[in-house]
Amino acid sequence: MSSLLEVEGLGTWFYTRQGIVKAVDGVDFQVDAGETLAIVGESGCGKSMTALSLMRLIPSPPGRIVSGAIKLGGRDLLKISEEEMRAVRGNEISMIFQEPMTSLNPVMTIGKQISEALILHRDMDRKAALKRAVEMLDLVRIPEPAQRAKEYPHQLSGGMRQRAMIAMALACNPKVLIADEPTTALDVTIQAQILELIVDLQREFSAAVILITHDLGVVAETARRVIVMYAGRKVEEGTVGELFSNPLHPYTVGLLASIPRLDLMRGQTDRSQERLQEIPGIVPPLFDLPAGCAFAPRCQRADDLCRRERPAYEEKQSGHWAACWHTNG
Ligand SMILES: Nc1ncnc2c1ncn2[C@@H]1O[C@H](COP(=O)(O)OP(=O)(O)OP(=O)(O)O)[C@@H](O)[C@H]1O
Ligand SMILES: [Mg+2]
Repeated sequence: MSSLLEVEGLGTWFYTRQGIVKAVDGVDFQVDAGETLAIVGESGCGKSMTALSLMRLIPSPPGRIVSGAIKLGGRDLLKISEEEMRAVRGNEISMIFQEPMTSLNPVMTIGKQISEALILHRDMDRKAALKRAVEMLDLVRIPEPAQRAKEYPHQLSGGMRQRAMIAMALACNPKVLIADEPTTALDVTIQAQILELIVDLQREFSAAVILITHDLGVVAETARRVIVMYAGRKVEEGTVGELFSNPLHPYTVGLLASIPRLDLMRGQTDRSQERLQEIPGIVPPLFDLPAGCAFAPRCQRADDLCRRERPAYEEKQSGHWAACWHTNG
């Protein structure tokens, strides 16, 4: 049976003066309705460009989707016109961004911004749309929603703005919700509330959620399956339980070692200041990747084979995939 969203061989490249940056380099994945798929990886590995590709919002030039298919309910979004795509964006697929201020219109009230989507996609009149917008604000647990609907984004706190963004993203009951680092700009207690909200709302709306984060702690609490990306490619994929208990790729092992262990830090204020273990080295520039495995220059297990030949992405155990010559085990 086919999944709600099927991404096949997605390639998104940037044509820069230094060379071609393969920000997304042949990425495949599927998500089912009601499922949460997490995409993790360090800064610059292509998470946001994957998400923006699904929305067909890649800045062009310099970027371009050069290959692949993005099938939503069987329809390839890369084959439809921009006009048809406008009916999909914010309606069938919507996205919550890391910094709500960049995606909210500063000169339009919150209520009006949410109603615009409903007027456009649901053919509602102004009054009905505004009523629904207030209901949405209530649903994302914004106190005094009718009052808040009349306010402008700058009048709301960061956490409230992010709630408003979620209300806007969910207003048209999308089939797919992409949340790109939805909590990174918020402080820790608010982060937990927003994640809980996303999880609750997903259950209610039974949308497929793609959660992008660099925080594996967040993944453990919210997702069922996880994809680990490195330098524009998938390096590992599996259920959260499998991947956390039995990481196959040395990069994933490194990421897991960098999760803050609250249980270890609790009650030890002196230790909580300690730096987390980080993976030594940096991601190589994407326009100048090494010949073999892109992670080899940072990998303790790397040998000549790794430097020479890129490992195939293979199913190493049932439902657990990795691209590595020397998987953990
Ligand atoms: N406008 C652009 N021009 C050239 N290259 C770009 C442009 N935008 C993005 N890239 C390249 O695409 C790569 C992937 O970027 P992307 O924003 O997807 O990373 P990310 O995984 O979301 O990182 P972060 O965790 O920092 O958000 C980057 O390494 C960057 O070099
Ligand atoms: Mg990003």
